[in-house]
Amino acid sequence: MNFKKNILCIGAGYVGGPTMAMIAYKCPQYKITVVDINEDKIRAWNSESLPVYEPGLYEIVKKTRGKNLFFDTNIPKCIKESEIIFVSVNTPTKDYGVGAGQAADLQYWEKTARTIREYAESPKIVIEKSTLPVRTSLAMERILSSGKKNIAFEVLSNPEFLAEGTAIRDLENPDRVLIGSRETESGYIAREQLVEIYANWVPKEKILTTNLWSSELSKLAANAFLAQRISSINAISALCEKTEANIDEVATAIGMDARIGSKFLKASIGFGGSCFKKDIMNLVYLCRFYGLKEVAEYWEGVVRINEYQKERFTRNMLNAMFNTLAGKKICLFGFAFKANTGDTRETPSIFIAEKLIEERANIIITDPKALENAKNDLGHLNSHIEYMKDPYKAVQGCDAIALLTEWDIYKSLDYRRIFELMTKPSFIFDGRNILNHSELYEIGFNVFPIGKPPFTHFK
Ligand code: NAD
Ligand code: UGA
Repeated sequence: MNFKKNILCIGAGYVGGPTMAMIAYKCPQYKITVVDINEDKIRAWNSESLPVYEPGLYEIVKKTRGKNLFFDTNIPKCIKESEIIFVSVNTPTKDYGVGAGQAADLQYWEKTARTIREYAESPKIVIEKSTLPVRTSLAMERILSSGKKNIAFEVLSNPEFLAEGTAIRDLENPDRVLIGSRETESGYIAREQLVEIYANWVPKEKILTTNLWSSELSKLAANAFLAQRISSINAISALCEKTEANIDEVATAIGMDARIGSKFLKASIGFGGSCFKKDIMNLVYLCRFYGLKEVAEYWEGVVRINEYQKERFTRNMLNAMFNTLAGKKICLFGFAFKANTGDTRETPSIFIAEKLIEERANIIITDPKALENAKNDLGHLNSHIEYMKDPYKAVQGCDAIALLTEWDIYKSLDYRRIFELMTKPSFIFDGRNILNHSELYEIGFNVFPIGKPPFTHFK
């Protein structure tokens, strides 16, 4: 079949894979190829067991793979054959040298730029899909235009706003698609080509075009604002626990103000995931770099409250269980950083598991999708941990349950049966406020929600 365009994506991770699957699904006229240096990942994308779990992803990969969606390892060949290249490689926090712990590690990004320059034989549009410090596209342009080849490259910024667990829904129905370009004739022409792709399924009024720098900065700012809401509600949850106010009632009351809005106000054990902390620290680093100390400190506070919330949750557990966890068995319900994903990057569960083990507790972890990742994350502590898929087996002989991920299945378990299986007194720490606390109390549990008075049977 003759395709209208050859589109390539470098980086077959949580963003590259699902995003390209959606473009392939919505645009049968384009040939989409996704490449990665990790051959195992490409093998998995070509298999029945995809490397990323997302509701609905498998179905659209099944419909497109081998027709107009391809996963490949021959990066030079794919670069030569493509007209449009998305770059969706990882941009983690630097853990060495200048800016360690804050700045973005741009080594994967830079290598990709050099690889494109090396193998390109015709003009290309190169699109930043990864989240990057504002003004990174300038570096990309400089790398691509250096050297002897005289090939025209146009760099666009097209940050991704999908959230894990709802990636397919978000991609199919985005709040907006953001495209930043140079404000030049060639910049506008390139931008139009990208608009044309998205316009196959996204209404035109939702496709927002800006200059390059606004686009890059908007992605960092959006993540900082989202994380800030969680830290704000978590900070208030600490005050609720001191004052008998109820955080869910407070969230409803403030969320009904249309200027505030009701979403993203769920108190929790703290936010996790690969991006919020990394992107805020990146923003903090940029602010310091530009001499904006006060602005840097403001955003740093969002991460500080998040650390505080995780610490507070484990301290509450310790206090509630008579100030000793030594030799006790604690079952963690959920390990993924949120429901409907197997991803455990930066999940608060890692911190909580480590702290509980530091107090000499024994941990049993159960999670519908994240047990393999949990084993990798906690490999160094394996002698203190057991992993069990079945929650009823996992709770056997446990003193406490800590609910850490808001998986739906935890709402509908038979808690009477669970209570019978546990050591007495039995505790439940609901780190997501998703359970029916008064019902659990009636069964006999001592229940500790977030930001609400506890329900205990002790006099
Ligand atoms: P990921 O680690 O899942 O995937 C990145 C992939 O890039 C890896 O498979 C890696 O092997 C590959 N890669 C690295 N260097 C390469 C190279 N030189 N050539 C070819 N492949 C290379 O990361 P991710 O979660 O998909 O995130 C990618 C980017 O998207 C990051 O900048 C992230 O901040 C941003 N982002 C992520 C999400 C999310 O939900 N995970 C959402 C929006 C934006
Ligand atoms: C987040 C953003 O929502 C996406 O828009 C963005 O594209 C993405 O980061 C990114 O750049 O990587 P994600 O981290 O996948 O997406 O998931 P979220 O739904 O944002 O949840 C992040 C964390 O916050 C989770 O640990 C979640 O449990 C927690 N959270 C979320 C709360 O504690 N309370 C809330 O009200 C909402």
